[in-house]
Formats: sequence, structure tokens, C-alpha cells
Amino acid sequence: MKETLKIGANLAARICVAPAILLYRLETAFVAGERIFPGWSQALALLPGVTGVYLRRAFFRGILPQCGRDAWISFGTIFSHSTVCVGSGVYIGSYCVIGDADIQDDAMIASHVSVINGGRQHGPGQSSVALRERLGTFPRVSIGRNAWIGERAVVMTDVGDNGVVGAGAVVTKPVPPFTVVVGVPARVLQRGCASTVESPESAAFEAARGAMPHGWNGGRDDHAPESHSGLPPQTA
Ligand SMILES: CC(C)(COP(=O)(O)OP(=O)(O)OC[C@H]1O[C@@H](n2cnc3c(N)ncnc32)[C@H](O)[C@@H]1OP(=O)(O)O)[C@@H](O)C(=O)NCCC(=O)NCCS
Repeated sequence: MKETLKIGANLAARICVAPAILLYRLETAFVAGERIFPGWSQALALLPGVTGVYLRRAFFRGILPQCGRDAWISFGTIFSHSTVCVGSGVYIGSYCVIGDADIQDDAMIASHVSVINGGRQHGPGQSSVALRERLGTFPRVSIGRNAWIGERAVVMTDVGDNGVVGAGAVVTKPVPPFTVVVGVPARVLQRGCASTVESPESAAFEAARGAMPHGWNGGRDDHAPESHSGLPPQTA
């Protein structure tokens, strides 16, 4: 019954966003997608509640190269590039800003996280040219499978599979798989860990899941819509 309801809700969301997708496609015939995509992402980010989650997912599934059928993208979260890939079972909390990134299956990103493309967007060095005019590099960032990014982290580079980034960390160097990093700049706290969120059966996963707003369940798409207020998080 629950499954049928979800299928119905996903279908309804797809129908609702179809005109928006069509309009977006029409716009991209005249303006580069990269210029108009952020505006659409910002508008969709404002849709509250579980309805917003379904509508965002439906829209992004029609636009992005990949967006999991059960990905959960919370209120206030903005994608700044239409090239973002969102795997299945991905959870993204509220008020995140995600640059050009590949977010792999079952990754969990808490609220207020920034995923930015490196730290050299504006070329350093001495020059009379304004910094904003000096374009640097924008390396794509990968958030590995089953990784867990803590609240308010700033991630500038890759996080390996099952990697854990502590709350408030600033990740400037790649995080190897199964490694926990914390702090500013992020330093290794634990290597070769059986990831804190290793498997949906692990106690740590349960704890992490419990900490997620609205009883998120690791993307198994049996969220409890009725418990999803869509309000800004009470700090995940
Ligand atoms: C990174 C994290 C998983 C580590 O958990 P843990 O293995 O239980 O670590 P501990 O609490 O035993 O702390 C170990 C050390 O790391 C430090 N530490 C832990 N988390 C830290 C963080 N986010 N930033 C800086 N230092 C941190 C502790 O102070 C402690 O230092 P000490 O040994 O000098 O006393 C956890 O602290 C964390 O940040 N989780 C993210 C929570 C979150 O953002 N949730 C959002 C909703 S899901």
C-alpha cells in the first residue's frame, strides 16, 4: 500500500514538474544551461515539506545526468551546476550548496554543508587584474559511496567511499576511503575505520539515521512523509 502511494506520489510529482522541465529545455535553447540552472534550483529549493522533496527529485531526475529514484534533497539545498550527479539512496540535508559534484550511492550529507570545487577558483599571485577576473580551477568533487558529511562541513575535494567528515570540518585534501577526518583544516582522526555509517544494519548507521531529520532511512524510500514538516531543521 505504502509502495503504491509512493509510486503514485512520484508519478504526480513528475506530471507537476513536466511543464517546468519543458520550460527549462526551451530556455536552454537560447541561454546556456549553466546560466539558468541555478535559478531553477533556487526556486525548487523553496518548496517545503515532503511535497518539495518529491518535486525537486522529479525535476532533477529530468535534468541532471543522474538523480536517484529515492534521493532525498531537503529544503533550501541548492545545486549550482546542472552537471551534478546524485546516486541512489543519497540524503542531502537542508541549506546545502553543492557545486559540480558526483554524490555517490548512499552518501549522507548533513545540513548547511558546502561542497565547493577546490579552493583555487580565483588565480592567486601578483597581478593588476581584479581577483574576480582571474579564473582559476574548478575540479569536480566526488563524495564516495556511503560517505557521511557532518553538519556545516566545507568540502573542497574528494571524500572516499565510507569516509566520514566531522561536523564543521574544512576538507582541503582528499579523504581516503574508510577514514574519519575532523577539524579545520581537516585532519585524520581515524583510518581504516569500519565506516560510522558502514551498513544500514550497523548501530552507528542507526544513530546517524536517527539524527537525520524526520527519521530518514538511508534512502530506502520508505520515508515517513507524514512526519516530514519541511520546516528548517532543528539541527540534524
Ligand atoms: C567525526 C565524528 C563522527 C567523530 O565521532 P567519534 O569517532 O565518536 O569521535 P569522538 O567523539 O570520540 O572524538 C574523538 C576526538 O575527535 C574530536 N572531534 C570529534 N568530532 C570533531 C569535530 N567534528 N571537529 C573537531 N574535532 C572533533 C573530539 O574532540 C575528540 O578529541 P580528543 O581526542 O582530543 O578529545 C563526530 O564527532 C562528528 O562530527 N559527527 C558528525 C555529526 C553531524 O554532523 N551530524 C549531523 C546530522 S547526521
